[in-house]
Amino acid sequence: MMQLSNYFDNKIIWITGASAGIGEALAIALSQYNTKLILSSRNEAKLESVKSKCAHSNITIAAGDLSNKASNEAIAEKIQAQFGQLDIALFNAGTCEYVDAKNFDSALFERVFNANYFSMVYGIEAALPLVRRSNSPQIVGMSSTAYYIGMPRSEAYGASKAAIAYMLNALRISLLPENIPVSVICPGFVETPLTDKNDFPMPGKISAETAAEHIIKGTAKQSEEIHFPKLFSIIMKTFASLPYFLQTPLLAKMVKK
Ligand SMILES: NC(=O)c1ccc[n+]([C@@H]2O[C@H](COP(=O)([O-])OP(=O)(O)OC[C@H]3O[C@@H](n4cnc5c(N)ncnc54)[C@H](OP(=O)(O)O)[C@@H]3O)[C@@H](O)[C@H]2O)c1
Repeated sequence: MMQLSNYFDNKIIWITGASAGIGEALAIALSQYNTKLILSSRNEAKLESVKSKCAHSNITIAAGDLSNKASNEAIAEKIQAQFGQLDIALFNAGTCEYVDAKNFDSALFERVFNANYFSMVYGIEAALPLVRRSNSPQIVGMSSTAYYIGMPRSEAYGASKAAIAYMLNALRISLLPENIPVSVICPGFVETPLTDKNDFPMPGKISAETAAEHIIKGTAKQSEEIHFPKLFSIIMKTFASLPYFLQTPLLAKMVKK
């Protein structure tokens, strides 16, 4: 495989959700290379703090609520004005809220889909014209191993990640004639502010820095699916391949525990 420093050399990369967790680790790790980074999230002060931790200062802060279409358009305009193009659009921003089936609440689904799915759809819409101007264009988007299996309480989060995976897998084929590779990222548990709120065991949990390493390597390989940690993701894939009449009692048992 090509050296990572060669792959990322001189690349203009938009990272969404760069103020914390995996996005922050990605920004810091990608600043080790000769990159130009655009960092987005709602919290400008936190983005500035991430910038101060980066290895170089070729970093543009472009804050905004990405679940809002106009924010994505404004950021794309900023990238257009500054660089005229975009090499890698790395859509990582997202949130997680758990469903209480006893109090099924469509507003929760709307919030999660807006932050996870529609933020990416708006981002792709805004970024595509810029990505099309690159000699080495690429789209990378964050899903989750959570979508492999219908996990209780993840009805909204898992469904948003399933929608993302489907959309990116389909878009990969649509963009083949234009030679724009599309990767979908499926991490297992990663230690971040998002998972710090979880009240259940998280087998195989890895650090955000390790997650960023996997994502950077998978991006450079232009892997269709970047899934990790491998033992966890392969167990999840195997479980998902079981018929539902076997999955249902096994999951019910796990949840009881
Ligand atoms: N951690 C895990 O175990 C895990 C596993 C699989 C997949 N993932 C996915 O990986 C991604 C990053 O997760 P994380 O664990 O690093 O979470 P995190 O630490 O909570 O970070 C989430 C990032 O997304 C940004 N964000 C959220 N809503 C936004 C919005 N409406 N507009 C703009 N930015 C927004 C946040 O920034 P602001 O608050 O500053 O806006 C923050 O930078 C998410 O898509 C998550 O679903 C995580």
